[in-house]
Amino acid sequence: MVTVVIGLQWGDEGKGKVCDYLADEFDVVVRYQGGPNAGHTIIYNENEIVLHHIPSGIFRENVICVIGNGCVLDLETLFDEIEKIEKLGVNTKGRIFISERAHLILPYHKSEDAKMDKTLKIGTTMKGIGPSYRDKFARVGLRMSDLEDSERLKKVIKQRTRDEKKLINYLNRYYDEFAHMIIDTVSLINHFINSGKKILFEGAQGTMLDVDFGTYPFVTSSNPSIGGVLNGTGIPYNAIDKVIGIMKPYTTRVGNGPLPTEIKTKHAKQIRDKGNEYGSTTGRERRIGWLDIPQLKYACLINGVSELFITKLDVLSGFEKIKVCTKYLLDGSPIEGFPANLSLFDKIELEYTEFLGWETLEGVDSYFRIPQELNTFIKFISDQLLIPVKYISIGRERKDVLIVN
Ligand code: IMP
Repeated sequence: MVTVVIGLQWGDEGKGKVCDYLADEFDVVVRYQGGPNAGHTIIYNENEIVLHHIPSGIFRENVICVIGNGCVLDLETLFDEIEKIEKLGVNTKGRIFISERAHLILPYHKSEDAKMDKTLKIGTTMKGIGPSYRDKFARVGLRMSDLEDSERLKKVIKQRTRDEKKLINYLNRYYDEFAHMIIDTVSLINHFINSGKKILFEGAQGTMLDVDFGTYPFVTSSNPSIGGVLNGTGIPYNAIDKVIGIMKPYTTRVGNGPLPTEIKTKHAKQIRDKGNEYGSTTGRERRIGWLDIPQLKYACLINGVSELFITKLDVLSGFEKIKVCTKYLLDGSPIEGFPANLSLFDKIELEYTEFLGWETLEGVDSYFRIPQELNTFIKFISDQLLIPVKYISIGRERKDVLIVN
């Protein structure tokens, strides 16, 4: 059984928490794209940990974690992350596998990222993501398998850095640590599928940061949307049984680019502070917007979402009114889809609906006990997107997830 978890907004929808919650039902969790630009925050035994590379199943000791070929890897970050997880008492031995086809992020990618962003002004995470994927597509990237093949490694590195020896020593040091994890994950994952294992695929960013479907050029350099699962792991399309769309009841984005429903009033700060909406990788303030139904319809269309998981509903507790954008209007007429030409956002008008807020969700331990106002809000989202809401989350812990019935 194959389930995919996809962020429907601009990332930071709570995929880490969701995957950690769901991982109990799965044998394997696979990351299919992205790199250390991601930061999946998980609360484990009251410790907060941010995962950049390792799939969120790592805190469930029977779960195997696979990093697919669609990912880009910074070996130093990966090493530190494994060390941190082990320090929390979690045994990772024999539980992490890395695709031999995954590309490396090298120190020169990080300095190029910083340099490029000075002119591009995308507001990247500066983790070398864009330059590493650029090299992949320009066919001058290095993959995990190249760590074994020193001839190609030397040839590529020679063309990119003067201190060739230093970089090769650095890579050799990490290769010794990771060699036993680097395998043919295409065969491994397909073997798991064919033997009936339950597998969860997790993306690193959200659909609106997808290089093909997001707010280009203010996007990341890979495909967090559904196509990325196939490209990034080598499973056949017909292996996918279910797609869970993750969304917050408001929108956020870090970095530049359009956020159509961006809030300019004091409510933005209230949501940011209450929801701790600061980048988990960079610490930057996240920009805050009201829920955006046209954007979500577009994301659900692309991803073929089967059910919805709404996170962070507790953040909106105490608001008298909650706004939801229901239409994008151009010259007075509703538009379909999401504009590719970002300059259209100067002309587009947004139509909003208001909902009554709810006071508190404290002490609520089943869906039957949620306030009527929240039920109305959830039902509206489901009716607009024509997709059932299966789970809601009303707090930080695993126990704060309620199943909707
Ligand atoms: P890059 O992925 O570092 O190249 O950054 C490109 C854009 O994607 C920037 O606006 C980043 O802030 C954004 N971004 C990348 N990863 C994440 C994430 O995990 N959550 C939210 N935004 C992200």
